[in-house]
Amino acid sequence: MRPAVVPLPPLATEARLPWDAEVDDAVAVIEAARARHGDTFVVDSGRDRWVFTFSATGIDSFYALPEEEASKGVADFLMLRRKVPEEVFLDRRILPGTLFGVGDTPTYLARLEEALDRTVEEAGPQGRLDVFDLTRRIAHRMGLASWGGPGSADGAAFDALVEAFDRLDGAESFVHPDRMRAVAASGHAAERAALTVIEEHLGSAVDRALADPGAGLFDRIVAAWAAEEPAVRARGVARDVALIHIASMSNLAAALGWSFIDVLTRPAVADAVRDGDDDLAAAAVRESTRLAQRSLMARAVLRPLRLDVGDAVLEIEPGAFVATLLPVTNRDPSLGHDRWDADRWVRHRFADTAGLTTPRAVTAFGHGRHSCPAQPFAVTAMSTALRRLLTAWDVEPCWSGQPRPVPAQIGGVARAADPCEVRYRRRGDDADPLGTPR
Ligand code: HEM
Repeated sequence: MRPAVVPLPPLATEARLPWDAEVDDAVAVIEAARARHGDTFVVDSGRDRWVFTFSATGIDSFYALPEEEASKGVADFLMLRRKVPEEVFLDRRILPGTLFGVGDTPTYLARLEEALDRTVEEAGPQGRLDVFDLTRRIAHRMGLASWGGPGSADGAAFDALVEAFDRLDGAESFVHPDRMRAVAASGHAAERAALTVIEEHLGSAVDRALADPGAGLFDRIVAAWAAEEPAVRARGVARDVALIHIASMSNLAAALGWSFIDVLTRPAVADAVRDGDDDLAAAAVRESTRLAQRSLMARAVLRPLRLDVGDAVLEIEPGAFVATLLPVTNRDPSLGHDRWDADRWVRHRFADTAGLTTPRAVTAFGHGRHSCPAQPFAVTAMSTALRRLLTAWDVEPCWSGQPRPVPAQIGGVARAADPCEVRYRRRGDDADPLGTPR
C-alpha cells in the first residue's frame, strides 16, 4: 500500500522516474506531466509515492516544511544509498554540515589557491583538456588538501584517491539513475572496492597526522575517533572524510565547469573577470549555476502533514515524498529565463522576478531552512577559480554545438553529456597563435 494523499491530486500514470525505467530526458518527463495534469500531481515509483508541486503556494509551502515532518536528510540518504554503500553513512561523527566552522573558509580558499597553482603547473604551456575533468580535479585537490590529511592531495596517493572517489561518487545516483539497478545487482562491488582504496590511503594519513598534527579539519576528525583502537579509528576517520568529500565537492566541480564554459564563450565577460571585476564574476557563477540546476528538491514525509498547494490542502501520510524540480521553474522561456544574463543578480538575490508566481520559483542554492550553507564559500571559490584560469590561459572551445546536460539526470547540478574540450595556451607565450591546431 502506498502512502495516502488526500485529496489525491491527478496521478501521472504515464510518467516514469529514471530509476524505474529508461527515460530520454528526466526533466522533460516531469514538465510533460505538469503540462498535462497541472501544477500539483503524483507520480508512483515502485512502492514509493511522489507528490510534485510547482504552484506558487505549493513551492512556498514546500520550502517551509519542518525537517521533523518532512526530512531532507532522509530523502538525500534514500537517494544516495542507491549508489553509496550504507556503511559510509552509518556511525558518522563529523558530518558535512559542520564543514563551515569559524575560520574554516579561509583555510579552504587557501587550499583552493594551491590547487589552482598545481593545476596550471600540471597543464604545462599549452594543450587540450576537458572542462569537467579539469574542474573535478581542482575540486578533488582542494577538498582532499582541506580535509584529507597529510599527503592526500599529492602524487600517487592523490591520483589513487581521485580514481576511487570518482567510482564511489554518490552523485551518480541522480546523474545516472538508470545505472542504479546494475549497482544494486552487483552488491555495490565497485563502490566497496573504491572505499577500500580510500580507507587504505586515508588510514595512513591518520598515522602521519598523529605524528605531526596541524592538518586543520582532518585533526578534528581524528580527534573525534581518538579513543578507538587504531584499526577502528583509521576506518572511522576515512569514512567521515569520504562522506564529507562526496557530499560537498561534486556539485561545485560541475557548477564551476558550466561557469567556465559560459564565461569563456562571452569574451567581454571573460575580459572583465580577468581584469578583476569580482562582482561580475560572482554574478556569472550564480547565473551559470541557476541554469545548470537539475536539483530534485525532495523531502521524505516522516509524520502526517498538511501541504497547502493553493487549490487544495493535501494531507500526506508518512512514507511519501514531497518534491519540486528546479529546472522546471528556473528556466521559464516565456520570461527569458532560459538565457544566460549575469545582470539578473544583485549580490545573492535573483532580481529578475517580474512575472514569477513566487520569488522562490527560481534559485541557484535553495531557499529557506535547508538552503546551502556553503553558498558564500562556493561562490567565492568558483569566482576565484574562474579568474585564475582565465588569467593563466587563453582558452578556446573545441566543441561545435552547445554543451548539453546528461538527459537522464534528476538532481544536483548538470553533468555534461559529451566531452567539452578546450584548447589552452599560457598567456604571455605569444610565439604561436592559439588558433593553430595542436
Ligand atoms: C556550486 C555548488 C553548490 C550548489 C549549487 C549547492 C546547492 C545546494 C542546494 C540547492 C541546497 C538546498 C537543497 C534542498 O533544499 O533540498 C543545498 C544544501 C546543502 N549544501 Fe550545497 N551546494 C553547493 C556546494 C556545496 C558545498 C561545497 C557544500 C559543502 C559542504 C555544500 C553543503 C550543503 C549542505 C550541508 C546542505 C544541506 C543544508 C541543510 O539541510 O540544512 N554545498 N546546496
